[in-house]
Amino acid sequence: MPEQALLEALVAEVRPLLGQGKVADYIPALARVSPHKVGIAVTSLDGTTIGAGDWQEPFSIQSISKVFSLTGAMMLYEESEIWARVGKEPSGHSFNSLVQVELERGKPRNPFINAGALVIADMLQSRLGAPMHRMLEVVRMLSGNGSVNYDKVVAASEYQHSARNAAIAYLMKSFGNFHNDVDKVLKSYFHYCSLSMSCADLSRAMIYLANKGSTLDGREVISPTQNRRLNALLATSGLYDGAGEFAYRVGLPGKSGVGGGIIAVIPGDMAICVWSPALDASGNSLVGTRLLELLSMELGRSIF
Ligand code: DON
Repeated sequence: MPEQALLEALVAEVRPLLGQGKVADYIPALARVSPHKVGIAVTSLDGTTIGAGDWQEPFSIQSISKVFSLTGAMMLYEESEIWARVGKEPSGHSFNSLVQVELERGKPRNPFINAGALVIADMLQSRLGAPMHRMLEVVRMLSGNGSVNYDKVVAASEYQHSARNAAIAYLMKSFGNFHNDVDKVLKSYFHYCSLSMSCADLSRAMIYLANKGSTLDGREVISPTQNRRLNALLATSGLYDGAGEFAYRVGLPGKSGVGGGIIAVIPGDMAICVWSPALDASGNSLVGTRLLELLSMELGRSIF
């Protein structure tokens, strides 16, 4: 477990980088967030959470929600049912690309690009009576914060600018890989993305990924084998087109979102969340990645 002072020092070290990168503006509600925010939180297996910078300020988790969705699908489906509809390979394309979906006949490369997460959201819609309500319950349970909520303004903003995600969903439907009403699933998917959580909430919520699939009070969320597999997918596809660079620099399974958050896992040890809104060319937090790189170097930890 790092010391509080180390986290403070690392945040101070990356502050001069604030101003580089670009805040996501394709979702208007996200474009309004200050690019000068930076925070980090670490939760360890003994249950303590420490943080520095803006670590208690909620932000839009965006694609980090794809970890919760896949976890939900793993709780509800046999793995063979999931992998019949979504692949396990890095995409090599941007997270919201359409071309591969067409070329590969409606089967998305992995559950962390938009196409894959839309199929997972479709699967949740099929098995859950009230998917948005149920997913919120799961996230509140995992984070231990009963006031975590959807940001209705962000969800509505995404819905108003949903042409690309809708196109992806309809394209998959044309190949038979999308079963529910597209509009309904888009609404659920945008709500998951709109979850507003802090670094502290997210590092706590993700601790099961460092704890063989169980919460710290011993509740099995997914099995140890499912946990190992989920972490493997995070390591290969969690940072989209930047997964190789992230593995090289940080060396941990992780997942980013266009809100500027990134979660990372040190199996058997801790869950980490960083946040800084400005993104690099692959859509991953620029300062957040640097912060994780410095932390993993300082701790001398990597899965490689
Ligand atoms: O669907 C979208 O485009 C967004 N709600 C989520 C994209 C995202 O976070 C990709 N992350 N880097």
